[in-house]
Order: sequence, then structure tokens, then C-alpha cells
Amino acid sequence: MPELKVMYSRQQIAVRVAELASQITHDFQGEQVTLIGVLKGAAIFLSDLSRHIELDATFDFISVSSYGNEKQNSGEVKLLKDVDQSMEGKNVILVEDILDTGLTLSYLTRVLEAHKPKSLRIAALLDKASRRVQPIKAHYVGFEIPDEFVVGYGMDYAERYRNLPDICIVP
Ligand code: IMP
Ligand code: MG
Repeated sequence: MPELKVMYSRQQIAVRVAELASQITHDFQGEQVTLIGVLKGAAIFLSDLSRHIELDATFDFISVSSYGNEKQNSGEVKLLKDVDQSMEGKNVILVEDILDTGLTLSYLTRVLEAHKPKSLRIAALLDKASRRVQPIKAHYVGFEIPDEFVVGYGMDYAERYRNLPDICIVP
């Protein structure tokens, strides 16, 4: 196991995730929301975020594959699993681990817009704004980070390290 340096500790993550959840609670007061997690990286973020959201909420999951190796996204995105329920007329929040080049989320935004939601927002735990290829912004961002490869709290390197409680930098 390589030496992994902590970028954000579990305590820092917990504080920030609760803040994002209260922002969402405030923004959608009196309404229902549907959280759509992007598998697998966003699963832990969604489970923590959702438990702090004080609204009538439902979950769904979507799965995509981006061709390329672990660190390099080739830009091609393929939908492996669509949502189970209709999104028509719903307040949809796409929950993603990292907004990097933006290719995945701009593709998913197009897929979900086709379902005619009432509103569509993006919650990204991490934002690597300097890496953006597609001009896309998240409404809710946990942390803006520099161009480093990170793992933990759901995020992987070749499927490993998702279970680490802290967000760590891969050297
Ligand atoms: P995008 O299409 O380039 O925005 O890619 C976003 C996806 O790439 C994220 O959902 C992650 O799965 C993956 N990704 C990007 N950067 C990292 C990283 O530093 N660690 C782990 N996965 C990453
Ligand atoms: Mg991902």
C-alpha cells in the first residue's frame, strides 16, 4: 500500500457534507427531491448527504463507464444503468464524487434532461475546476481541489481504496 497523504479528514468531510445538506434543505423547502447517485464513487457521499437532508427525498442510481485507464478519461461515456423511476416533474439532484473534465456530468445532464425533470441540479463533493473540458458547474460543491488524483470516501484507484474514511492523495 503506497503512502497516502490525507487531503480532507473524515471530520472535515462530515462538517462540509452537513453544510451542503442544509443548503439543499433550505433551497427545496416544502418540496420533494430525488437524489441520483452516480455509481460507484458517489455512494458514500450520497448516503451521508441524504441523512442530513430534512426533506421528503427518494434515491436512485445511475451507472456510466468512461473508457480509458484509471487516471485518464478518454472522453467517451457510456450509460450502463439508467434511473429506475420516471424523473418527470421531479426536483432531481445528481450526486457525483468528482467534477473533473465535466464530460461525465455533461453527458448525464443531457440524459436526465430527456426525462423532463422539474429542476436539475448537481451536487459534487469535489471540483477540479482547472481540469474542465466541458463548461459545466455544480450547484453544490464540497471542496474545490487542485489537479491531484484522490481516493477514499467512495473514490477509487483501479477499484481500490473506496473504503478509506478520509480523502487521500495518490502520489
Ligand atoms: P469527468 O467526466 O472527467 O468529470 O470525470 C469524472 C469522474 O472521473 C469522476 O466521477 C470519477 O469517477 C473520476 N475521477 C476523476 N478524478 C478522479 C480522482 O482524482 N480520483 C478518483 N476518480 C476520479
Ligand atoms: Mg465517478
